[in-house]
Amino acid sequence: MQDAQPSLTAGLTGRPVISATGLFTPAEIITNEELVASFNTFVDRYNAAHPEAEPLAYSSVKFIEKASGIKARHVMSKTSILDPEIMAPRWPERANDELSIMAEIGVAAAQQALDRAGRRPQDVDAVLCAASNMQRPYPAMAIEIQQALGIEGFAFDMNVACSSATFGIQTAADYIRAGNARSVLVVSPEITSGHLNWRDRDSHFIFGDVATAVLVEDAGLAPAGHWEILGTRLKTVFSNNIRNNFGFLNRATPETQGTPDKLFVQEGRKVFKEVVPMVAQLILEEAARLGIAPESLRRLWLHQANAGMNRLIAQKVLGHEANEDESPTVLDTYGNTSSAGSIIAFHLHSDDLVAGDTGLICSFGAGYSAGSVFVRKVG
Ligand code: COA
Repeated sequence: MQDAQPSLTAGLTGRPVISATGLFTPAEIITNEELVASFNTFVDRYNAAHPEAEPLAYSSVKFIEKASGIKARHVMSKTSILDPEIMAPRWPERANDELSIMAEIGVAAAQQALDRAGRRPQDVDAVLCAASNMQRPYPAMAIEIQQALGIEGFAFDMNVACSSATFGIQTAADYIRAGNARSVLVVSPEITSGHLNWRDRDSHFIFGDVATAVLVEDAGLAPAGHWEILGTRLKTVFSNNIRNNFGFLNRATPETQGTPDKLFVQEGRKVFKEVVPMVAQLILEEAARLGIAPESLRRLWLHQANAGMNRLIAQKVLGHEANEDESPTVLDTYGNTSSAGSIIAFHLHSDDLVAGDTGLICSFGAGYSAGSVFVRKVG
């Protein structure tokens, strides 16, 4: 803990809570209709230009909605993504003394979380930037966000794919439990449009861009209406079924540039089949450890990758088919926003819960990885 103010060190408890969350939503939206029209134009042009090759097949709005539940997604660069000649996000490169794009949206979400908690930057001791992709290896995005907000203390990046935010929350909670920090910002700027292969029919509809922030603090200084963190549990099991080989050891050459394995690839069916039981088991074991009856959970804020996966997981946990009130969906309008998905659901659908209500934030994805955070509303 660095230079803690006397007013804020008094009464520390070592018990972590979520004081507030923040959300930045990009203004631009791509509907399935727009996405499929652009993709199918690309297909027509490709097939016309490669008469000797196996023809590419059209995508379809109907398939996307049925297979995933996604109807639209927010993005940071709509025009270039929908341009059949580009099909990737593009914006002018920024100079080193300008705020990077990931830091910019992370700061917007973090500022909202601070405002909602009535907290000043100098009250925060640490910033974790927890996301699936970092736009550069160093200096850390987290340190840039820390600097932009005027926070002292320390910051670092961490990446656990779609589980980054819940792994970040446990890390922050552990700092509070150990007394190493009073107040920690977990920021998840997810510009997933950058790792998505917009030319791949199997996955071009999956992802969207967003940024979330979670302020994890010691209960002794939390504002009214916070969420006690009852327990956190993480799990990882290696799998090649979701993979992205992009990295500093395979700099693009004319031969490797654009090869699909340097973007997001997955065996969607296997992921569906293998991750659902892994996550349900993690949740049920953790609920038992904490002495929480799963059927008593007031709400599940699940990772937002696929509506069918969430239906199955909620069913296994609650013992009945969950309705929108018990397991809210943001996937339909945000798409899969990687680690931010469960935090968006929590941010948008938690104000109506009352003191004593218990819920679960849960994420899962590549690694495989899964993280659970059981929370209880405090008045
Ligand atoms: N438009 C039209 N048809 C398509 C299509 C598209 N965009 N993409 C695939 N299809 C076709 C396939 O060719 C296949 O046709 P076939 O039956 O004639 O072979 C059929 O639709 C089914 O394809 P499949 O890939 O098996 O679909 P699916 O039902 O498994 O749904 C996912 C695909 C990706 C939505 C689903 O598997 C999923 O969400 N899995 C979990 C993913 C996940 O959570 N990942 C984590 C990422 S962080």
